[in-house]
Amino acid sequence: MNSIPALFLALFTAAVSAAPILKDTIVGGLKDPMEVAIAPDGNLFVIEREGRVVRVNPQTGGLFEIGTIPVEHLKEADANSKYAREDGLLGIALDPSFTKNQRIFLYYSAADVIANRLSRFTLKDGRIDLASELKLLEIPTERENTVCHHGGSVEFGPDGLLYVSTGDNTNPFESAGFAPIDDRDGRTERDAQRSAGNTNDLRGKIIRIKPTETGYEIPAGNLFPKGTEKTRPEIYVMGCRNPFRISIDPKTKTLYWGEVGPDARGNSDNGPQGHDEVNQAKSAGNYGWPFVIADNKPYPIRNFADNKVGKMTDPAAPENLGQRNTGLKTLPPAHSAFIWYTYGDSKEFPVMGKGGRNAMAGPVFHYDQSRKHNVLDKEDDATLLTYEWMRGKIFKAKLDADEKLEKLDLFLDNLVHPMDLEMDKDGSLVLLEYGSGWYFNTNGGVYRLRPDDGNKPPTITIKPTEGVANGYSVDKAADPENGKLSVTWYVTEGVTERKLGSGSSITLPAGSYQDVRAVASDEKGALAFARIALDHSKDLPQLAIEIENPKKQRGFGQTVKFKVSSATPPDAKQVVVRARYIPPTGHDAGGPQLGIEIEDIAKANQCLACHQVELPSVGPSYLNVSMKYRSQKDASEYLKDKLKTGGAGVWGDVPMPPQIAIKPDDADKLIAAILGLSTGMSETKGTLKGSIQLPPKGDAQPGGAWEFSAEAPDYSSARIRIAAE
Ligand code: HEC
Repeated sequence: MNSIPALFLALFTAAVSAAPILKDTIVGGLKDPMEVAIAPDGNLFVIEREGRVVRVNPQTGGLFEIGTIPVEHLKEADANSKYAREDGLLGIALDPSFTKNQRIFLYYSAADVIANRLSRFTLKDGRIDLASELKLLEIPTERENTVCHHGGSVEFGPDGLLYVSTGDNTNPFESAGFAPIDDRDGRTERDAQRSAGNTNDLRGKIIRIKPTETGYEIPAGNLFPKGTEKTRPEIYVMGCRNPFRISIDPKTKTLYWGEVGPDARGNSDNGPQGHDEVNQAKSAGNYGWPFVIADNKPYPIRNFADNKVGKMTDPAAPENLGQRNTGLKTLPPAHSAFIWYTYGDSKEFPVMGKGGRNAMAGPVFHYDQSRKHNVLDKEDDATLLTYEWMRGKIFKAKLDADEKLEKLDLFLDNLVHPMDLEMDKDGSLVLLEYGSGWYFNTNGGVYRLRPDDGNKPPTITIKPTEGVANGYSVDKAADPENGKLSVTWYVTEGVTERKLGSGSSITLPAGSYQDVRAVASDEKGALAFARIALDHSKDLPQLAIEIENPKKQRGFGQTVKFKVSSATPPDAKQVVVRARYIPPTGHDAGGPQLGIEIEDIAKANQCLACHQVELPSVGPSYLNVSMKYRSQKDASEYLKDKLKTGGAGVWGDVPMPPQIAIKPDDADKLIAAILGLSTGMSETKGTLKGSIQLPPKGDAQPGGAWEFSAEAPDYSSARIRIAAE
């Protein structure tokens, strides 16, 4: 009994380890990532279902939010809704001249009309300029009644033609897992004759166009010549159900796609059982749905009114007699799938195994000695990598000289819903994992698959450095080969990053950062990344402050005019504008400081659990306390008293517990330091446009800078520096 599984396991492992592959993490924590596009410089552009577009730098682990497309999508608060089930931001491709023109193509479910749209956007300063949108195609769609299937993969071929896959936009749950060809009135969303089987509709298709400066042209060789009545010239492939990731062989231009099939678990009078397919198209064609499936197994035409089955489809000349068909009645002959399989064991392709189904097509591998990596051997030249979202596997489909399937083997296993697979320039593979659930995942990620050359990636974790403000240091770092590791530090500033330096620790300079990152590199250049998120205020609207005076009026004690603005302006009454002088010498860490000795006292007494210097937390910011009491004579006595008694009501309803453990001497020092925070600082409250008097010179050294800040509750504050006169 035991020996059979053992033998099976041995064979299985052998199949996998023929090409041992390492999986290096580039970034995790993505929310339902859908598709990835690789830029010529190696940067990765990833889209998430709910509309976010990010750039990922695989050399530093940097993740930059470059835009959010307003899309219709299923929302977490309404997760069981029957509306817009599979809508969202669906596909991305970069223009073949991306480096020069910064253009990206996105396919998404529009939020302003009920349609899926293919648009071109241009990046400006690294971000998507929404105003640059050029709408190429708008495909009307249905969203009611649990319709599914939008495909959505967008890819350029080596000849600069753009391919987009679209789904049949049909409810699959009311046809018992057979062909959804419900012709009854009022059953629009259950009828794929209107979409995939319709030569005059762009749903359930793979579209092929040639983008131009202002739109697109129809390339030669599409399924219906331009001007053919009752057809759309954009169609390259028709008869698709949910063509859910496509790829184009860079050498032969042959198109591959995975086709997610229907659910019937056995054959019946209503037709063959459900199959998923991997398809190959060397030229334009009809791939059968909803009349033919798998290796041209036909469905009979079923009458949903009396549940009787009628005429059997002829795969050589399928007919679409549906009342909602606006296209040709006789369709081009159906093509067989390249690979097809059911829920159960596959007779034709046993290596596919059994279980849930979701076929996807990845890149075609071509052996290239000049590249850094080859994920397969020389004998595997011309191998299609297909993958299975449900089964978490990648398969290798070796092609012969005529691009026929020579053999099919398992390549990799144990992936978490592989969502996209792309070949990088260096020959490694970029893998996108969707995360473990159907929707609302936060464990999606981008990985690199490379041949195991014996050099495992290093590991690294980082932590704040105890006792050092804005300090971070390596917690643990290791190289499995015990070689030398170098660590480089970066911070993310909006859509860019800044390299800070190398070594086991770093102190961040003043600034507003989304994260601090350490990149560990071993002697052979294998990388590992550690990241600590810093700025949670980035989701808040940003304030901006402008100083309007001419330069010469910026001396000590003078008055300058300011203007505070934001995309959604704050309540003027809540706005606080401050100015402080930064001397030319000495290290200014940005913002007023308590000093190291005082900070140690505050930490030892747990004050910093509830207070920060500049930002309100559980209690008020110490700077605000200082501002409030700075002209009050008995402030020091009052505050030391308040520490002893605790209490609420001055800053809000939350009470401060009595601070009885603090030594009187330390309380004196702390309160003095807190009150001193506002020295040399001036303030104006309650206006968006006004003036502020700069602090007097006192004994300050000239030649420094003015720092102006603007704050309002629930806004990200503004801070600018201007040279003082
Ligand atoms: C458990 C949270 C907590 C801790 C710990 C804490 N505070 Fe407070 N603190 C508060 C809150 C809440 C307020 C606002 C009270 C109010 O509105 O009257 C406050 C207010 C203050 C004020 C202003 C009082 C006023 O009446 O304006 C000072 C000064 C202060 N804290 C200093 C300290 C110091 C120093 C420590 C450490 C020895 C400390 N706090 C520890 C929560 C805390």
